Amino acid sequence: MRPMRLRRCQLAVPGSNPKMMAKAAGLGVDHVFLDLEDAVAPNAKVAARGSIIEALSTHNWGRTTRCVRINDLETQYAYEDVISVVEGAHEHLDTIMVPKVKNGRDVAWVDILLSQIERKLGLTKKIGIEVLIEEAEALMRVDEIAASSPRLEAMIFGMGDYSASQGIDEAALFGDSGYPGDIWHYARNKIVVAARANGIQAVDGPFPNFRDSDYFRLECERALKLGCVGKWAIHPSQVEIARSIFSPDPADVKRAYEGREAYEEAKRQGLGAVQVEGRMVDAATVRLLQRTIDRAEQISAAEGSR
Ligand code: COA
Ligand code: MG
Repeated sequence: MRPMRLRRCQLAVPGSNPKMMAKAAGLGVDHVFLDLEDAVAPNAKVAARGSIIEALSTHNWGRTTRCVRINDLETQYAYEDVISVVEGAHEHLDTIMVPKVKNGRDVAWVDILLSQIERKLGLTKKIGIEVLIEEAEALMRVDEIAASSPRLEAMIFGMGDYSASQGIDEAALFGDSGYPGDIWHYARNKIVVAARANGIQAVDGPFPNFRDSDYFRLECERALKLGCVGKWAIHPSQVEIARSIFSPDPADVKRAYEGREAYEEAKRQGLGAVQVEGRMVDAATVRLLQRTIDRAEQISAAEGSR
């Protein structure tokens, strides 16, 4: 069984920056990933492993999911990133994030390496995997990737690298694509479909213009409407916006419980459909209401265990 973690917001934090890692631990965000990849300069990558182990082991992270993003599998860093971080901080680490995967084999490689380390250390807790879909090859093989490992918990749409890979203009990243409709629609939707069909979470990637909170909000809403469970933040100012947009509205939750109750009562009376405030509730609509209830219950269970 995969752990169902909250990922309404995943905060990116450079692994070479102890001050930001300390700050991130205290923000109460659902999920933080300490980065060894793009946020860390090549000459700081090896030392950042030690800084990350130190930050994971010494700060109080509360209920925050702790993740480390390793370098991509075509670099010379990736295998030692996994070995040093997992051996150094295993009980303080929940998942490994793998950027720029291209196929299911990439994920399987990380899975096998994690199994070896867990066996060596005698660990019972299994480290989860999250992957970034940010190469054209990855989008093409997203179904294969989504089904590649029982450790896989989430797929993230990384629109920055994805734009470079497909040949999309940089302006699109800032909301000015010049394309009619939403330029991310196809990729986002394809990722969500593959994720949902395989019982894993889809998460929307970063929006770099962190001072433009209106556009960030809009991007969160677009991702939510397609079925993403959350969005990245690259700056603390984005955390609360994502957390609130990806939390169900209390009025919707109340309506969902009432609709489900009315449907259960209808079934007891031998009816398959009933009207609640002028709307039909039947087996299909109850499924949608149940999703709202599940999201609300997941949040209150996680926040209750804080
Ligand atoms: N995580 C934790 N703390 C962060 C943070 C982050 N991602 N981004 C900013 N902060 C902190 C700053 O250290 C500062 O803390 P202080 O008030 O205690 O001094 C505070 O939040 C305000 O930051 P601000 O001055 O507005 O921004 P900055 O110039 O320090 O940082 C960036 C701007 C873009 C360099 C920074 O947000 C960052 O590094 N983001 C993540 C980049 C990254 O991980 N990229 C790869 C994945 S997309
Ligand atoms: Mg990237």
